[in-house]
Amino acid sequence: MSRSLSLKPLRFYSAALMIDSAVAADLIAERLTPFPTDHFLSATDLNPPAAHALLDLADAFAEHNRAPSPRPLDLMAGRTVVNLFFENSTRTSSSFEIAAKRLGADVVTMPVQASSVAKGETLIDTAVTLNAMAPEILVVRHGASGAAHLLSQKVGCAVVNAGDGRHQHPTQALLDALTIRRAFGEIGGLTVAICGDVAHSRVARSNIALLSMLGARVRLVGPSTLIPSAAARWGCDVFHHMREGLAGVDVVMMLRLQLERMEGALIPSTREYFRFWGLDREKLAWAAPGAKVMHPGPMNRGVEIDSDVADDLSVSLIQQQVEMGVAARMAVLAALTERRHGGDR
Ligand code: CP
Repeated sequence: MSRSLSLKPLRFYSAALMIDSAVAADLIAERLTPFPTDHFLSATDLNPPAAHALLDLADAFAEHNRAPSPRPLDLMAGRTVVNLFFENSTRTSSSFEIAAKRLGADVVTMPVQASSVAKGETLIDTAVTLNAMAPEILVVRHGASGAAHLLSQKVGCAVVNAGDGRHQHPTQALLDALTIRRAFGEIGGLTVAICGDVAHSRVARSNIALLSMLGARVRLVGPSTLIPSAAARWGCDVFHHMREGLAGVDVVMMLRLQLERMEGALIPSTREYFRFWGLDREKLAWAAPGAKVMHPGPMNRGVEIDSDVADDLSVSLIQQQVEMGVAARMAVLAALTERRHGGDR
């Protein structure tokens, strides 16, 4: 007999639900089997039922994680997760590590700068070498768009894209969707404005795909130099003035100005950028009453967002985004592991 309570979204009874490995495995078996892909490379790998089920599972993990001493689960006991980050990270790297440990996995976080990459070993050789040690999942961040997809074709383990160039950051989109759903109850029908440097943002591309899939209206707001011309085909409304773009929105998602990815001067100065595009109290007042503020981090305070707004917990969901990162990544790691081994039991 199934140990999960029903196919209803877990959030409706999450206060009463004590998630354990068996309940999580049942939910995955009932609603995430088969998981749409062998790897998690893009938000577009999901479909609406899988996205809702992943969010329900992550929601239950989020409640579990709030216990004073969360009991370790054993969904990944005896399995190994390797974090391979060729770009810097605070949130993503550490939350994948915590998530894997909460599921009972062994975790290796490769110090890329101190690895044989520094002697010239290639990306593929590095991944193939690590794959020979039989990890379950390789979590990869790389500056080149398509890097995670390339590695997924070279290794036998599952690959999770932790950010590839300006292409995709699918677990960020999942944690953002979880944060929004917990704040508003549901995502369908909300209007979300993604503001700023869309051109260089994998976070924007992943969120556009997932939030649209879940029924939100997505707006892109920014200077024409930072909104790609292809955006017209992404199914979003595009605005080049903050007042119009923020008018009546439920969620204002600010993006980091990615100066390191810019070729040439796309903005006059960071000071002028803040004046026109930085989120402060005055601009936030153009959004709907009760609107919430998000930012994937790391923030450039005083450039794309004012500290006064970012640190106001009555409007800012930024710390909750970080918290939900662990739960969302637990859901992805558990679902991929079940896809690979669910039939073993
Ligand atoms: N949001 C995000 O990807 O942050 P990190 O670069 O710190 O991982």
